[in-house]
Amino acid sequence: MNAPTREDLARAGTLEELYGKLAEVGMGAGWNKPTPSLWASPRKTFRPAHWRYSQARGALDAAGRLINTELAERRNLILFNPAEGNTYATVRTLVAAYQMIMPGEWARVHRHTPNALRLILDAEPGTYTEVDGINIAMEPGDVLLTPNWSTHGHGNNSRANAYWLDVLDAPLVQLLEPMFFEPLDEDANHEAFEQEPAAPTTDSPFVFTLADTVRRLDQAEPTPSGPFGTAIELGNPALDTATLHMMRLERGVRTAPHQTTANNIYAIVKGSGTTTVDGERFEWGRGDVIAAPAWRVHVHEASEDALMFRVTDEPVLHKLGFYREAP
Ligand SMILES: [Fe+2]
Repeated sequence: MNAPTREDLARAGTLEELYGKLAEVGMGAGWNKPTPSLWASPRKTFRPAHWRYSQARGALDAAGRLINTELAERRNLILFNPAEGNTYATVRTLVAAYQMIMPGEWARVHRHTPNALRLILDAEPGTYTEVDGINIAMEPGDVLLTPNWSTHGHGNNSRANAYWLDVLDAPLVQLLEPMFFEPLDEDANHEAFEQEPAAPTTDSPFVFTLADTVRRLDQAEPTPSGPFGTAIELGNPALDTATLHMMRLERGVRTAPHQTTANNIYAIVKGSGTTTVDGERFEWGRGDVIAAPAWRVHVHEASEDALMFRVTDEPVLHKLGFYREAP
């Protein structure tokens, strides 16, 4: 059957007939759309959620027996949001994953357009990330960046398994489509690793050490009941698509409610407490992760002095003119 012509369409005698002919030419009547395209305020598709580091460690230790870094590009556990149909993103634009490498292992060098960062949870001296050819030390509480298209691989020359939390803007890159990924020469990398690696450094714009972060927090004006406790920013912003903060929460102080169009991922560096996201209360400890997606009002309360790491897509919302706070 031939596609309807201008005349065929013009002859449609009923709306039903018109809808049928429109479908044949790949058009749809805007007034007859089954679902709305616009709505009054954010739909909160992504859900408040909590992931426990203790459970992730158990699973990663099993994975350490069951799969190696030769087979897995990365040995990681993706923290996917329980939003309906979602199997990847932690919040709309960001994905978080726990990762582990074992002593003597090397997670090979690659590069990709998604920006990535990692918060180190447990690692002993001798664990490092090679970024653009420089070995950067990974120590607990440090935050390490691998921006868009930087080459990076991870090595562990210590005697202990090393664990960290990765956060990437890969869901945003998937949405906008500028995805590029390139594995680099595996054999060459492996040889480089097996020779004595250069001593890891922390003298790099790609790392924020915990020691430096704590020093800055000590000097910051205390604002314990602000939405983020007493907080400092790491970088300005650290990545084009993500702003990073370290938050110091004082025991027993409830933070001011926070509700904006930006998405937030929180990870616990130290201490314990609770975060309530849109009425759902999560009790967290060290290494845990909390998702506070766009337009979800949330507050934190530490039960012992705590350090919390915050990743937000605020720079994206700001650049596009979509950033809003609740009235
Ligand atoms: Fe990567």
